[in-house]
Amino acid sequence: MSRNSDNKETQCIHAGNTVDKATGAVMPPIHPSSTFENPEFGKPGEYIYSRGGNPTRAALERCAAELEGGVRGFAYGSGMAAVAAVVDLLPANAHVIVPKEVYGGTFRLLDDVRARSAGIQTSFVDFSDPANVVAAGRDNTALVWFESPTNPLLSVYDIAAVAGIAHDMGALAAVDNTFATPINQRPLELGCDIVMHSTTKYMGGHSDVIGGLNIVADESLGEKLAAVSAVTGGIAGPFDAYLTLRGIKTLALRMERHQRNALAVAEWLEQQPRVQRVIYPGLASHPQHELARRQMDSGFGAVVSFEIDGDRAAVATFMNKLGYFAIAEGLGGVESLVGHPYTMSHSRVPDERKAELGLTDNLIRLSVGIEHVDDLLADLDQALS
Ligand SMILES: Cc1ncc(COP(=O)(O)O)c(C=O)c1O
Repeated sequence: MSRNSDNKETQCIHAGNTVDKATGAVMPPIHPSSTFENPEFGKPGEYIYSRGGNPTRAALERCAAELEGGVRGFAYGSGMAAVAAVVDLLPANAHVIVPKEVYGGTFRLLDDVRARSAGIQTSFVDFSDPANVVAAGRDNTALVWFESPTNPLLSVYDIAAVAGIAHDMGALAAVDNTFATPINQRPLELGCDIVMHSTTKYMGGHSDVIGGLNIVADESLGEKLAAVSAVTGGIAGPFDAYLTLRGIKTLALRMERHQRNALAVAEWLEQQPRVQRVIYPGLASHPQHELARRQMDSGFGAVVSFEIDGDRAAVATFMNKLGYFAIAEGLGGVESLVGHPYTMSHSRVPDERKAELGLTDNLIRLSVGIEHVDDLLADLDQALS
């Protein structure tokens, strides 16, 4: 029987997987070899040198391409290396449009590093009204890049509408799909050219590997990205590629539990007198809830942000009292984490900019794990009381 199921649970396990011809191993072997013997002079084999291609990395890249509905995947040593490879597709002095609250690493890459090294110009725009993206267009706009949902305020943007606007400008449309995962949302099917992941988060899923992915919708873009990626060399090593591939096997299963827990936590938080505001796209109170329901077909992710009554001292007391939620950067692993974006992930963002984004000092971000929900709610309850 052919293995071409449309079901994500099945795809997570079988996508791109080929039984190893040499041994019959059902999981792709880890190939640490940096180079591969030519069968004959002038006739290289399928693999030549691991910066350009490696069988373990290729297994992850095939899997990712299939999960996202793309033609080709590229695996990198971090999410930021994946973002950088996309920016390296652009001509010098190109203009890029991103949301005001774009992920901090992407902000610094565009606004500082590539502004300096490649003259990249960036406009930071409120994507909640797609007309603002249209208005920001310039003759040299070459890329519209965005996340949905965003970090940590979980805004949801209309991917199909923004992709259409980018194409009308002659620009590429790229989505950072880290928070949603392909289980919930497949931007290439909504018209985007590139989808990117920090696989450090849900794809890897166990907080034990840093990695990134780009998946492209068409072959010619794939050729260009292959050339950039092989030369700049930010590729995933075979051990890391293997760990990510292993994580993806249970992605659908994990997301189901992550999201069930996150919804229960968000609904519970909404009932607490000490909680002023809960932000989760799965709540009817979320400003883009209807869009999220249309765009995200299996759930709303597992990051929940909320504002507590009180100042930073109250936030610190609450976070220090938590038992299961560890105070840590990052998200998307099986264990629950808690962060204070103001002083942690967004500490380098100037205070005025944080105020403009609505990122307050009493905002707390939860990455809801897959523990039993009763334990998570009991932990939050004792810490709030
Ligand atoms: C939305 C998003 N994109 C990109 C990145 C960068 O990924 P990495 O840390 O794997 O380089 C992160 C990391 O937190 C992220 O949250």
